[in-house]
Amino acid sequence: MEKLIVTGGTKLEGRIKVSGAKNAVLPIIAASLLAEGECHLQDIPQLADVDTITQVIKSIGVKVSTTGNKDLVLNAGELTSSEPPEEWVRKMRASFLVMGPLLARLGHARISMPGGCNIGSRPIDLHLKGLTALGADIQMSHGIIECSAKKLVGSRVYLDFPSVGATENIMMAASRAEGTTVIENAAEEPEIVDLANFINGMGGRVYGAGTNIIRIEGVPRLKGANHTVIPDRIEAGTYMIMAAAAGGDVLVENVISDHLKPAMAKLAETGVTIDEEDSGVRVRSRGRGDAIDVKTLPYPGFPTDMQAQMMAYLTTARGTSVVTETVFENRFMHVNELRRMGSNIVIEGHSAVVKGVSRLTGAPVKASDLRAGAALIIAGLVAEGKTEICSIHHIDRGYEDLVVKLTGIGVDIKRKVYPDEVEK
Ligand code: EPU
Repeated sequence: MEKLIVTGGTKLEGRIKVSGAKNAVLPIIAASLLAEGECHLQDIPQLADVDTITQVIKSIGVKVSTTGNKDLVLNAGELTSSEPPEEWVRKMRASFLVMGPLLARLGHARISMPGGCNIGSRPIDLHLKGLTALGADIQMSHGIIECSAKKLVGSRVYLDFPSVGATENIMMAASRAEGTTVIENAAEEPEIVDLANFINGMGGRVYGAGTNIIRIEGVPRLKGANHTVIPDRIEAGTYMIMAAAAGGDVLVENVISDHLKPAMAKLAETGVTIDEEDSGVRVRSRGRGDAIDVKTLPYPGFPTDMQAQMMAYLTTARGTSVVTETVFENRFMHVNELRRMGSNIVIEGHSAVVKGVSRLTGAPVKASDLRAGAALIIAGLVAEGKTEICSIHHIDRGYEDLVVKLTGIGVDIKRKVYPDEVEK
């Protein structure tokens, strides 16, 4: 078993560079299936989730290569199957993003149903509602979803919730449908805009991405394109919260500060000094901040993917904070682990009431999901003594070179292998 060992008490100082965005690159790799030509993608983070989606597309005939410089060259000219193997699909929910492109390209896709996960049941009804509106016939049996369509025809789709994945799947399928599709109440996340830019680079016609109404005029063919992925706003926000919690002076580089407005606004409310500089966002903090209330919402609201990290920071704030989760039904798995470290948190429905304590103490804890894992590192930074985090494969899904990057700004963090211990 591998663990991360964090020793608390150090102030953070220096520069830390953000990688390409995981949640942009996953749909973009899926969208490369739409093109008959070669796609060159730059700023690809080396992450377990990126490996998984790459295996998924390889398994259906995409030729994948790299020049070894954070890039991927993908050629989906000859697809050999519309049925990616279950072993890869079940590893990651985002694998389901190949459904829309496969349907558009081959008129058929057979994919195992993505399971629930540690942050909630995460249904796919809105993906299927959109694909059905475009003319797909959908059959579900024995945990497999089979989608077929002789041809896809543009339509009007209203999403009951602005789901990121549903918006992406529908956008990709619609980009090669006949006629125009309008997605109403679409997700507005920056990753949606990045995907739309990639599709348009391939010759697609997607308008309005970044607003809640997206219009897609279908085209018969898409060609290969070059694309550089946007920086990861959640990774950036995580480092900003680390600097706020531990105290110090950190410049977070390679960011689009517009994407970080919600995080910057809430951190400033806690008393941290945030400056937008030419080369990044600078965070200066004395450590313990003021309590604040935080409510997660779809973009441009405060991101659910930063909720756990923010809560970890607020465990030692002066006063009582209320953290409300509205995007996922069950994203408080980190609370029990934070309690083991001495925090005072009570869950009331969709809210967590966090009474700030003057100090946390290091403890053995478990990462239940990616962002919960990041939250435990933040708690470890402000805790007395050592925090041992297990199940760190979750953290590897979304933070590239984490130990090296954090060590560079003064975090005392080590990765250790425990050959005699097994993951429970
Ligand atoms: N939902 C439905 N029906 C659907 C789809 C979603 O009810 O058909 C519900 C979900 O159950 C959830 C809410 O809508 O309650 C939001 O889900 P959404 O579809 O927006 O999320 P996603 O596309 O599955 C992406 C990110 C997540 C991030 C969410 C919300 C990727 C690969 N994943 O997931 O990222 O939390 O959007 O912003 O883009 C992470 O990086 O740690 C992560 C979990």
